[in-house]
Amino acid sequence: MKIVSGMRPTGKLHLGHYLGVIKNWLKLQEENECYFFIADWHALTNKYKDTKELKENIKQMIIDWLACGINPEKATLFIQSGVKQHAELSLLFSMITPKSWLELNPSYKDLKFNLMYQYLKDFLLGKQIKINQAPPSESYDEALKKATGKQKNKIFEEYLREAFHRTFYSKKGLDLDYLKEVLIKFGIQKKIIEEAISNLKDGDIGKDIDTVGFLSYPVLQAADILIYKAQGVPVGEDQLPHIELTREIARRFNNLYKEIFPEPEAILTEEAKLLGIDGRKMSKSYNNAIYLSDSEKEVNQKVLQMKTDPQRIKKTDPGNPEVCIVYDYHKIFTNDENLLKEIDTKCKNAEIGCVECKKILANNLNQFLTPIREKRKEIEKDFPKYEKIFIEGSLKCREIAEETMKEVREAMNLYY
Ligand code: TRP
Ligand code: SF4
Repeated sequence: MKIVSGMRPTGKLHLGHYLGVIKNWLKLQEENECYFFIADWHALTNKYKDTKELKENIKQMIIDWLACGINPEKATLFIQSGVKQHAELSLLFSMITPKSWLELNPSYKDLKFNLMYQYLKDFLLGKQIKINQAPPSESYDEALKKATGKQKNKIFEEYLREAFHRTFYSKKGLDLDYLKEVLIKFGIQKKIIEEAISNLKDGDIGKDIDTVGFLSYPVLQAADILIYKAQGVPVGEDQLPHIELTREIARRFNNLYKEIFPEPEAILTEEAKLLGIDGRKMSKSYNNAIYLSDSEKEVNQKVLQMKTDPQRIKKTDPGNPEVCIVYDYHKIFTNDENLLKEIDTKCKNAEIGCVECKKILANNLNQFLTPIREKRKEIEKDFPKYEKIFIEGSLKCREIAEETMKEVREAMNLYY
């Protein structure tokens, strides 16, 4: 099967990326015609103001992919901006794509939600607001009483996220009155609230993401996929709407001009639910990720910081591995059924302490990461040699993409 997939170069890869994407690619490259690329144009859709790190991020991504075993002899590896035909096809697709398809796209809405929430959080916390008052929630009130400094901010963030979710997905559109109400209940100064809300409504933040490029993100993605006439696209669940849109664009094109594009299927990655060390989704922005490039020491430290069963306070309390992140990691990285069972039993009977349990995990995690770490060093030392793989891959893809473009231009009766 012909397979295309891409990844935005947002920085170094963490374990979540490995389990959610890379592991799947490693399997697919064995038996399929695979095209994997670094989606640097897509990285611009929300990061267009600051491109200083773009080149370095691409470099890190090249190193991470190859160190994990993505194999250029099995898959074609390239960089999106090295194949300009993607942009040409994207432009032509934008002519035939109704705007409403994009505006209703849930991924677009979610991304917008995240960016707006990020902004709101940074704005409010940047104002050094004092969060002492509780909004109308018992559990929140309790938690806030116990919390100190930084913890307070964390609790505030969580609550704010919930409130903004209601604000954003309200049936009547962006419900800023509701948001205002919540912020007032927090005891935040009216002036600050007004400023935040007016920025949200028509200030820079709105403009930042209300770009043509951001809206048409999935059109470019459709071009990425269809230009190779891919049949399969391995993606996470969050990307399903984009694949559906790709199919609709293919259908529309085929109906309007000529049957050129197959309708690709999404190949869903089974969600490997690996949380960050604080129990939230693993993400660079939460500062809770374990990176493939972390040193042994960093891994040890991060594992020691991991949240465990919250009910287990003393070593003599029995624990419950089912609600413990450490145990979730064990299930993936401790390749020994007997040891897994032993930990499970000992935890339930309070016969093993969390520190000891974490040490075992850190060891196993390091065992998994050591070969990747070593490969990374090797690649880093001789980077131009490995970079060349992506340059040559881009050249090869240009030719394939150009063949498709010839058909497209002809079908659309373009002059050139
Ligand atoms: N949108 C994808 C993501 O954020 C990246 C991507 C861009 C992609 N173009 C693609 C994935 C084409 C699959 C196929 O993860
Ligand atoms: Fe989690 Fe291990 Fe502690 Fe049990 S012993 S609560 S599995 S860290």
